[in-house]
Amino acid sequence: MTSYKDSLILGAMTIPNRVVMAPMTRNRADENGDPNELMREYYMQRASIGLIITEGTAPEHVGKAYPGIPGIYTDTQENGWKLIADGVHSVGGHIFMQLMHSGRISHKKITGLDPVAPSAVKPAGELFTGTGMDSFETPLEMSSEQLNATKAAFVDATSRALRAGLDGVELHAANGYLLHQFLAENSNTRVDQYGGTPENRARYVLEVLDAVLEVAPSSQVGIRISPNGKFNDIDEVDIDGTYSYLISELNRRNLAYLHVANQAGFDGLAFARERYSGILVANSGYGDKDKVGTLNHLISTNQAELFSLGRMALANPDLMARLNTGADFNAADSSTFYSRGAVGYTDYPGLKVT
Ligand SMILES: Cc1cc2nc3c(=O)[nH]c(=O)nc-3n(C[C@H](O)[C@H](O)[C@H](O)COP(=O)(O)O)c2cc1C
Repeated sequence: MTSYKDSLILGAMTIPNRVVMAPMTRNRADENGDPNELMREYYMQRASIGLIITEGTAPEHVGKAYPGIPGIYTDTQENGWKLIADGVHSVGGHIFMQLMHSGRISHKKITGLDPVAPSAVKPAGELFTGTGMDSFETPLEMSSEQLNATKAAFVDATSRALRAGLDGVELHAANGYLLHQFLAENSNTRVDQYGGTPENRARYVLEVLDAVLEVAPSSQVGIRISPNGKFNDIDEVDIDGTYSYLISELNRRNLAYLHVANQAGFDGLAFARERYSGILVANSGYGDKDKVGTLNHLISTNQAELFSLGRMALANPDLMARLNTGADFNAADSSTFYSRGAVGYTDYPGLKVT
């Protein structure tokens, strides 16, 4: 029986187990989005997990969602990520970078720029802009020049990530950020070739993906989706049509993986399994009572090849040792998810060696 402890060939690398660290924003980067030594320590602590996917990282300045988000669009950022990738590799780990363009989930107070999005539709709600909460702004509808510039930024970010030694990139097309905003009817009201039908709403996602695939082998590119996800004021109508089409196109591109963040009310994983021919990464919504049993069941019944864990990886630097020995898990402290410094970041205790 296949177990979460089994290795898996993922493109040019073999990862030692089926556990993936889900991408998690932690807001610990320096000013200007520079990755730092503390981030290096955090990722190195978690390198026994089969594959780390980094926190959402901005491919261009206008796509920075929150203060403290790292970027991959300057030489300093690239050098910082190189130290992190080298650190993770030096202890036997593997690491992909999640490229997260925030689209309308940003603010002039964060970037000094008007947020850009498929359409000038302001999301409901507020975001943290540095000193307090502010309402979202109405974003600028992306012109064809902006569409090209942002696509070029994704390409440049991918080149930088690979040059920095990351093992690959994951395009973030989930959770209400830019690429998801193109897929969803309520954030994309365009009447040109990027809006309306599933083919049109998926067009920009696929254009960005294809541009990235010109500089990265397909085995080093993954993508994340969250069908029916409501986060960041997303409301999808034709989920079946949108994601059936998108997945049929992904099948033609031989990617490293498709990462599905399962959402309440829609079993995105089962939906993807029926349609996707490659490696699937499952995330969330499976309950935590018998984690090992859940992992093994999902993998041995071929529901997914890999399984990503977010909060458990955040709170347990030695997650694999705990899974393997049946030890208790530290609970994640949400009050420090997005704070600064080492507290709630690199100071979660490891198992005591007796
Ligand atoms: C603190 C925190 C930050 C997150 N940031 C991101 C992110 O940057 N990109 C992303 O795709 N998902 C992000 N997520 C969602 C997680 O990747 C994951 O889907 C979610 O935590 C559910 O998995 P879990 O039940 O194993 O925690 C974040 C979640 C948490 C708790």
